[in-house]
Amino acid sequence: MSQPALIIHGGAGAREGSHTTYASYAQSLRRILASAWQTLSAGDAREAVLTAVRALEDDPIFNAGLGSRLQRDGTARMSAALMDGDNGSFSGVINIERVRHPIDVADALHAERHRVLAGAHASRYARDAGLADFDPVTPHRRAEHEQQLAGEHGTVGAVALDGEGRIWAGTSTGGVGFEIPGRVSDSATVAGTYADGGVGVSCTGIGEHIVDHAGAARIATRVIDGLDLEAAIQRTLDEADARSFEYGLIALDRGGLALAGSTHGVTTLWAARDSHGSRDFVDASA
Ligand code: GLY
Repeated sequence: MSQPALIIHGGAGAREGSHTTYASYAQSLRRILASAWQTLSAGDAREAVLTAVRALEDDPIFNAGLGSRLQRDGTARMSAALMDGDNGSFSGVINIERVRHPIDVADALHAERHRVLAGAHASRYARDAGLADFDPVTPHRRAEHEQQLAGEHGTVGAVALDGEGRIWAGTSTGGVGFEIPGRVSDSATVAGTYADGGVGVSCTGIGEHIVDHAGAARIATRVIDGLDLEAAIQRTLDEADARSFEYGLIALDRGGLALAGSTHGVTTLWAARDSHGSRDFVDASA
């Protein structure tokens, strides 16, 4: 038996204009953490990750699902991934259009022989899997696109450990905004989302930096090789800082320790519950 633990994130860094505050991010994250914790208590790590990521995708304050940023051609293309630490199996969807919950497409793909799909074929797969047509574009994101605003951060994710010791990690993103149409983010790669029997990681931040650093897989490998989670995160972030990378992450180990971290200049927006109780980025910075 394991002591269940859950950590979620709502992106890294800059607040997105005057309509959002750190207090409102914290409020949303606390609400979503509480609901996913209920799922974890009654169910398993996969369901808890799906509950959390779906709720984060539904909250337009975050850049994933509803409220995703638009690419340069004015289209929202989203990416999401899910990894089962028990089986070490990864599934993902890249640049999918017009779905409410990209994470559900990653989940459906988990049962397939071919587990990562991209572009129009991913959208068609979602429709065939029974996922309804959904427009994720909000007036705020449309206005942002009209001003040609690019972001650098924004993604959501969750990592959970259930009572049976299973770890799952999930990540979902609307990308950086005003990117070259078709750009591939880190989120649906093992650089952005990784889990194995001992650890799960979800990253947020500048996708190119996360991919160059193989952030999530790098931390997981260090834990597999015997470093404790805190040291694995610290060593990885020190290396990232030395290369002036900008990203943040959440992670959780099989002992039920949930931690968040970020490079210099980045504030990861996170909330967690584990054997140390509930806490979030607001408590941590207070
Ligand atoms: N980390 C999200 C992105 O770069 O698109």
